Amino acid sequence: MRDRSSRVDTLSTEGLCVYFEGVKAVDDVSLTVERGRIHGLIGPNGAGKSTLFNAVSGFVPLTAGRVVFGDTDITSWSPTRVSQHGVVRTFQDTRIFKSLSVLENVELGAMDAGLHGNEGRRAAIEVLELLRIAHLADETAGNVALGDGRRVGIARAVATQPDILMMDEPAAGLDEKETAELAESITEIRDERQCGVLLVEHDMSVIFGICEEIHVLDSGRTIAVGTPDEIRRNPAVIEAYFGSNHS
Ligand SMILES: Nc1ncnc2c1ncn2[C@@H]1O[C@H](COP(=O)(O)OP(=O)(O)OP(=O)(O)O)[C@@H](O)[C@H]1O
Ligand SMILES: [Mg+2]
Repeated sequence: MRDRSSRVDTLSTEGLCVYFEGVKAVDDVSLTVERGRIHGLIGPNGAGKSTLFNAVSGFVPLTAGRVVFGDTDITSWSPTRVSQHGVVRTFQDTRIFKSLSVLENVELGAMDAGLHGNEGRRAAIEVLELLRIAHLADETAGNVALGDGRRVGIARAVATQPDILMMDEPAAGLDEKETAELAESITEIRDERQCGVLLVEHDMSVIFGICEEIHVLDSGRTIAVGTPDEIRRNPAVIEAYFGSNHS
């Protein structure tokens, strides 16, 4: 169980590299996520966004570099240990427990934060309310619509009381209205829980709408870091998305 009495303010990668055979999936990336802020991580397909997530959260080994959480070097910690310390992620595929109820899924998250029994249930219901899916509490998670399932996965992560919440394409497959509502919910999570958010998302309306800072990768390397306004106007970013190499 993690110590919830103290909160950690920053998560950083320092010169993070992940090389697979022949592919520099992430190449010397340094970024910092601060608690209370929403940071975007964008880039064309194959840019290395999920690999960076996997490296930070302990799912793939780093080739070089460090991951630092507050004052603690968490490089190469196991996924469980990373999440118990307050860096919690969601996956591109939702990974909810389909045979459990929506509430039970979120209670599992609360348990990770040391909340059991009635206390865990209360905490889980609060998160379901925050995510606006309290009416689905007793549904079997495998039966809910895609957009709601996404919210269940996010709710479980939020119930673990993260200091840093990492989300990998939460809006994938959602329609325009669901996407706008999800963007609003991500802001509400940040406002209410005061966690930092690292958000990978292809939908630029979400990225430019809610991120305070955006980090852009292309072929594993950082090509730009800045505010939404700076990133929109950045020639290297425009080239990466619309240039001849990425038609
Ligand atoms: N386990 C692996 N073994 C070998 N190569 C991999 C592995 N995982 C990812 N890669 C490669 O690393 C590069 C980065 O992939 P990654 O999935 O991190 O990109 P991404 O930015 O998340 O892309 P997308 O937007 O499509 O989700 C790609 O070239 C990919 O093929
Ligand atoms: Mg990805």
